Amino acid sequence: MVKVDVKYTKLFINNEWVDAVSKKTFPTINPQDESVIAHVAEGDKADIDIAVAAAKKAFHRYSEWRKLDASQRGRLLLKLADLIERDLEYLGQLETLDNGKPVKQATGEAAWTAQIIRYYAGKADKILGNTIPADGEVLSMTLKEPVGVCGQILPWNYPIPMFVWKIAPALAAGCTIVLKPAEQTPLTALALAALVKEAGFPPGVVNVVPGYGPTAGAALTNHPDVDKIAFTGSTEVGRIIMSGASAVNLKRVTLELGGKSPLVIFNDADVEKAAEIAHGAVFANAGQSCVAATRTYVQSGIYDAFVAKAAEIAKKRTVGNSYTDVEQGPQIDEEMFSKVLNYIKSGKEQGARCVTGGERIGNVGYFIQPTVFADVKDDMKIAREEIFGPVQSILKFDTFDEAVDRANDTNYGLGAGVITNDITTALSFAKHVRAGSIWVNTYSVVATQTPFGGFKESGIGRELGEDGILQYLETKTLTISLPKQPAI
Ligand code: NAI
Ligand code: MG
Repeated sequence: MVKVDVKYTKLFINNEWVDAVSKKTFPTINPQDESVIAHVAEGDKADIDIAVAAAKKAFHRYSEWRKLDASQRGRLLLKLADLIERDLEYLGQLETLDNGKPVKQATGEAAWTAQIIRYYAGKADKILGNTIPADGEVLSMTLKEPVGVCGQILPWNYPIPMFVWKIAPALAAGCTIVLKPAEQTPLTALALAALVKEAGFPPGVVNVVPGYGPTAGAALTNHPDVDKIAFTGSTEVGRIIMSGASAVNLKRVTLELGGKSPLVIFNDADVEKAAEIAHGAVFANAGQSCVAATRTYVQSGIYDAFVAKAAEIAKKRTVGNSYTDVEQGPQIDEEMFSKVLNYIKSGKEQGARCVTGGERIGNVGYFIQPTVFADVKDDMKIAREEIFGPVQSILKFDTFDEAVDRANDTNYGLGAGVITNDITTALSFAKHVRAGSIWVNTYSVVATQTPFGGFKESGIGRELGEDGILQYLETKTLTISLPKQPAI
């Protein structure tokens, strides 16, 4: 196993590294071999209070941060992007250690985040309001102002991108931040916090407090001095956050939650290409992706050929040591590992046909075989619930209308895909399916410039692109009285 130096394990508050008030720590585990990597300071309510006070002070109208020109906020972000690129290899290796994903993938994700930061750096001094022809003898305009102190709560599946999706637009907008990484993956968030400091952001602008959800996460959600909460994670916790956010004040809330996304493949598709796209759509990141297309609907004319091809591709998927050139590493932790194996069991029990996989790999680490179920029915658990593991469910359909109705028969609405060469079919599907991102003849393409987020119980608000920064801005309307015009 590669030796990676863990440099930061304390809380990052006010640009300082501090222990938790309670002095407690929690272990972070290597999912490849179940060993303890490090003990990390465990933030709780007392630490959140200190961090929020720092963020509030940094948001004061006389603070160094608030007095910066918008272009200077952009300069700081550009510096941060450069530092991430400088440390790319280290960040990738650290991510693999803590999260288990293949190192090439982890490094690629970190590289992407430098682009995202530069995109928002460019926006910092281009945040524009409107001048508005309002009724009456007035001049009206809008100002776009930072929303204030932001609480940001992250998941473990894409730790570096999630950190950057959250902080980059918030900083470009001029907000200050208290961020809680997932308890499974605190290490890269702390390494990135060190780069935030090195880039020159003033104290208190970004604070990172590792800890657990019901303690640190809940304290942030319920804090009266936090103006906004941004969360990515389960729909279940999304609900808790939404109600907590309205308990003591009325926080702005953006949520990016779960999914059970459909990918619908029509008879005219090239079976081999379609099976490749569908495979990537499910198995990327060991299936631990909110937008994973875990319901593969295949039209009856090509169904059997597709199932055979899907099984063949899944069998060839390389799973193992994430520091080597593999496609798939372990699941994140014992809890998710067991949860995924239980879904596989339920698929078998409810009568789906397991055409490949279905077991764990080895007896150390949380590795699971790429698993493909055929003949899945819409009411089976594996077709209804988010599995968050390397499990593909293939379902058969006959007509277009049936496919659209079945694709929409879910409480989620994050992504959806269609594979066909018929433009009318593709566009009609795109129009009628209710989801935040629709892909035609591809899947999971998420670009810096395009908004990402969900319909229905997949979330509220959008990240990335122009929409991403709007979630961190308030609109202030300014109306100025003009002298009454004399009659001629
Ligand atoms: P989770 O939603 O419990 O955790 C995500 C984050 O929320 C973590 O930082 C956690 O500490 C925090 N959190 C938990 N309880 C909280 C509370 N009461 N108040 C404030 N923050 C809280 O997700 P978990 O347990 O890691 O995974 C469960 C399921 O969630 C997965 O099986 C998957 O279906 C889904 N999930 C979806 C993700 C996405 O990208 N949308 C990412 C991770 C999980
Ligand atoms: Mg949880």
